[in-house]
Amino acid sequence: MSELPGYLHGYSEKERERLHRQARFLEPMVHDRLPFRRCRRLLEVGCGVGAQTEILLRHFPEIHITGVDVNDAQIAEAQRFLQTAPGASGRFEILKADATRLAFMPASFDAAFLCWILEHVRDPARVLGEVRRVLAPGAAIVCNEVLNATLFLDPYSPATLRYWMAFNDHQFSLGGDPFVGAKLGNLLQSVGFREVQTKVRTFHLDNRAPAERAEMLAYWTELLLSGADSLLKAEKVSSDIVATMTEELAEVGRNPNAVFFYAFVQAQARAW
Ligand SMILES: C[S@@+](CC[C@H](N)C(=O)[O-])C[C@H]1O[C@@H](n2cnc3c(N)ncnc32)[C@H](O)[C@@H]1O
Repeated sequence: MSELPGYLHGYSEKERERLHRQARFLEPMVHDRLPFRRCRRLLEVGCGVGAQTEILLRHFPEIHITGVDVNDAQIAEAQRFLQTAPGASGRFEILKADATRLAFMPASFDAAFLCWILEHVRDPARVLGEVRRVLAPGAAIVCNEVLNATLFLDPYSPATLRYWMAFNDHQFSLGGDPFVGAKLGNLLQSVGFREVQTKVRTFHLDNRAPAERAEMLAYWTELLLSGADSLLKAEKVSSDIVATMTEELAEVGRNPNAVFFYAFVQAQARAW
């Protein structure tokens, strides 16, 4: 398996570049106080283009990372990118693997990191069960996942909301789960993780932070449009909706009283 039938964003070069920008943009939230200081062997599942890998290597200078992904093009990009990342040499390996069947021995790792992958898999409990199997007792896991029901924009943007509903609906029909963030606590517990904690990481941007709000809107416009080809091909949206959404987002960007709200969930737990 290389091209995932349920992978909404696709595997274009544009998408690979977006993943690099996304990881840097969300770094302050996603990588805030992660519990990996004493860890030495971290497994990153669904490492994509290596964008999160680079940040983890930078934040934890003593860690070695094994990144796995199912897609050849992402793997090639992760290898290219990490070979040029300062301080990364000799500290990573990127392997092709399906997260539901990991070819590692039990207790191979003392940490695991997952970011925006469980939303794309049919059976997130199976992935987490595999991760737990290969973690040593006491190892820390961190999962960051979407909770797409939380998106709110002011001024009211009906075409954007219709497009967003179609985006989420399409992700469901492809076997993914755009609301999996809310389920991380249950999922981690169900496969035997302990000390499960969840944090809702919220972006609530208004007139108090206009520059951040503008940056966030630009990021979201790119994220929403990253699904457009797939949605148009599946006839889930019309090109009119895409065009109107693009206009609405520009209008929100121009409005001096605009509000942007979105939340994702970060879960932490320990293997047992
Ligand atoms: C949205 S990207 C996120 C990449 C990276 N974690 C990041 O935050 O930049 C999701 C990645 O998960 C990978 N993926 C999806 N299902 C997978 C599976 N069953 N096994 C391994 N990787 C998978 C995709 O190929 C893709 O590279």
